[in-house]
Amino acid sequence: MPGTAGAMPGPPLAAAALLALLVPAAARSPGAAGCEVPPGGRFDCGPERLLSRAGCEARGCCYEPAGPGPGPGSGPGPPWCFFPRGYRSYRAENLTATASGYTAGLRRVAASFLPGEVGSLRLDVAMETPARLRFTLRDPARQRYEVPLATPRVSGRAASTLYGVQVNQDPFGLVVYRQRGGQVLLNTTVAPLFFADQFLQISTSLPSHFISGLGEHLTPLVLDTAWTRVTLWNRDMAPVPQVNLYGSHPFYLGMEDGGSAHGVFLLNSNAMDVLLQPSPALTWRTTGGILDFYVFLGPDPKSVVRQYLDVIGFPFMPPYWGLGFHLCRWGYSSTDITRQVVANMTAARFPLDVQWNDLDYMDAKRDFTFNEKSFKDYPEMVRDFHRSGLRYIMIVDPGISSSGPPGTYKPYDEGLKRGVFIRNATGQPLIGKVWPGPTAFPDFTNPETHEWWHDMVKDFHDQVPFDGMWIDMNEPSNFVEGSQDGCPNNSLEQPPYVPGVFGGRLRAGTICASSQQYLSSHYNLHSLYGLTEAIASHDALLRVRGKRPFVISRSTFAGHGRYAGHWTGDVSSDWEQLYYSVPEVLLFNLFGVPLVGADICGFVGDTSEELCVRWTQLGAFYPFMRNHNDHGTRPQEPYAFNPAAQAAMRNALRLRYSLLPFLYTLFHRAHSAGETVARPLFLEFPKDPNTWAVDRQLMWGGGLLITPVLEAGKTKVSGYFPAGTWYSLAGDSTIHSKGQWILLPAPLDTINVHVRAGHILPLQEPAFSTAESRKKGMALVVALTPDGFARGDLFWDDGESWQTFEKGDYTEILFLATHGAVLSQLLRVGAHLDGVLLEAVTVLGVTSPPRQVLANGALVGDFSYRSDTQVLRVPVSLPMWEQFVITWS
Ligand code: NOJ
Repeated sequence: MPGTAGAMPGPPLAAAALLALLVPAAARSPGAAGCEVPPGGRFDCGPERLLSRAGCEARGCCYEPAGPGPGPGSGPGPPWCFFPRGYRSYRAENLTATASGYTAGLRRVAASFLPGEVGSLRLDVAMETPARLRFTLRDPARQRYEVPLATPRVSGRAASTLYGVQVNQDPFGLVVYRQRGGQVLLNTTVAPLFFADQFLQISTSLPSHFISGLGEHLTPLVLDTAWTRVTLWNRDMAPVPQVNLYGSHPFYLGMEDGGSAHGVFLLNSNAMDVLLQPSPALTWRTTGGILDFYVFLGPDPKSVVRQYLDVIGFPFMPPYWGLGFHLCRWGYSSTDITRQVVANMTAARFPLDVQWNDLDYMDAKRDFTFNEKSFKDYPEMVRDFHRSGLRYIMIVDPGISSSGPPGTYKPYDEGLKRGVFIRNATGQPLIGKVWPGPTAFPDFTNPETHEWWHDMVKDFHDQVPFDGMWIDMNEPSNFVEGSQDGCPNNSLEQPPYVPGVFGGRLRAGTICASSQQYLSSHYNLHSLYGLTEAIASHDALLRVRGKRPFVISRSTFAGHGRYAGHWTGDVSSDWEQLYYSVPEVLLFNLFGVPLVGADICGFVGDTSEELCVRWTQLGAFYPFMRNHNDHGTRPQEPYAFNPAAQAAMRNALRLRYSLLPFLYTLFHRAHSAGETVARPLFLEFPKDPNTWAVDRQLMWGGGLLITPVLEAGKTKVSGYFPAGTWYSLAGDSTIHSKGQWILLPAPLDTINVHVRAGHILPLQEPAFSTAESRKKGMALVVALTPDGFARGDLFWDDGESWQTFEKGDYTEILFLATHGAVLSQLLRVGAHLDGVLLEAVTVLGVTSPPRQVLANGALVGDFSYRSDTQVLRVPVSLPMWEQFVITWS
């Protein structure tokens, strides 16, 4: 433990405390002893190039061929050239108290081997809240790029009992530790700090191997600390493991012994690698910007997520219809075909809320146009959908076709005139190539671009009254490297260190890093492209429709969830990707993007009937549920399969629709309180380490546990059940778990869903769309604890108006069960539940047969009770908008 003198709470630090805070270390010159570092704790001294023994020792580092290395910064084993203990890079000086914490100067004390190393730095440490610490390292002499994310402004210093901080003087390092127990959460003295113009690196020890986060990747929930490199740089890439994908979320959550948790967010948008190694330790290595860290002290994992979302923003509230079933494919090549798809869904009695079109609707694949032949009656089709209670969404790509003669394509002509496009080295719009051929890329960091985008969205919406936007290809994706004219030769294109990006160059699959945007270079802003487009689209939709916007985006960055949802891109139709979708969905919930799902049945390649059934069953529990398919592959709409498969899918869909009031309430909790919707088990059971790595199951909120089948040919599935009582949602079986793995029957028509004792879920009779289901009767599932207690709630509003919660235009009901009674308490009553009746109450875990059941004092004659399952069913007819009490005795 790093001593107790560094505790930061309380009044501004006295001089004595400051002295105690600075812990001098024995000076050590490069090349001296200190090479006796265990292999798992060795930090790479040659990150940017391969070094010989001589080259390594010339840096003052230790050389020892070991393991499968050497690879610059990447090998799957220990580096051959590594820093000795106590290697000096910066020294801290003049630590002084500030209003929010303290500040110090850092002076470089060793020669650097990187170009543009900054000699003097400024450290600022701010104790922003009792559970949030921020520290930044900047160049005091030069304003560098900083991520334009509005973060909370905080003045003053918040006392904390959760953590303490120490600054190590020489070599400089920061230590954050738990006040109670002394566990070190962050210790940057384990390796030297680097702060060069295009190479910034800081390492820390980790308190355990349970590290989750750092998206977007195809990865298990818990990252592997055995020499893993995680690269962040948004990229159009069909998901495969170990490769940078569509989004960047430089945030991790770490579990600690005993079940406490902390989180770390590096607010930096440059291309970066995050390296994990077995000691365990983590290295952030980024190629620009500043080092701007937030540390979240929990102390439980749910609080860590909320504290992270306090910084990046709480999720937006989706419209109710957005939680229904969405159907899409690339290849619905006409309105006739699209209409037929909807008709087939209706005929086969499948619920459907939103019909989608891919590129097929466009004229020559250009945004904001439609094909006058195959989509001749497009506006009429969308209006017809609306008339039958459906919603409609189409794809929009950011690349704007630039090749037509002037005067023929308004989005480009207007865009040129208004100067909205990203510029190349000569100040001209950079031209790349996407679906329509040559394209220019709107610069969504420019406010004028938002106006122009709004105008284009409005023009199109005036013709085709669509309900939401699907924004794709926004990494941004480019089919030529950089631009049609290549890219200049400069340090932004060829930085001294290139993270492990797929394709080997920053421009691979995208535009030139050195192209110019309104706020900065694309080099700095690249990974923000999708986020900035999502903001522009969200704002445009709000202005145009006046209702809650619905935007689904492929590319994301920290803070995305405030504006839009995400689908996980071009996943293959195979069982492995079915599994990976669970941790992907869970991780995006930790990232504050709860509205997330994978393409159900898979996108790339032909699905199989069994896979598609299992995927639909799991997909019924994706917060965002869409079946989407590639062109040219086997059809995978639910009606495309045999009757037995269809029946299984229909059940899954009906199950989802019946759970929508519960799901919607969870989204409200996410939006208003920074909670997750789909949740890993460890968030609910952090003190049970068996839950920490579970990523083949997911929870909805704290009350529902889903155990999907993720393998072919299985009719049983094993799931982990934390200690306690779990009832099957159907009420036909009960698990009293001591915290154990349980093998469950899972024939093809079954998805295992369990309610946790202590929870009450609001349900509603399913229908073929949410427009209908929202008017149906409601039901409660009351899952009693052994001592007869349960609680739950319902958030309800009109389902689509803007900011109903903020304006107070909603209904909120609390449900409580205790001592043989369940009652509702109206916390707030808006008009929207009028006419909706509570029609059934199912109480799970009633241990003795009731003789009498009363609803608001009146006898209920036709209740039923089964002593084998201990389920009490009470049919009622009670207005949801009035309080009620049901008792049994
Ligand atoms: C790539 C997207 O990921 C995919 O979903 C879409 O179908 C194609 N682009 C065509 O627009």
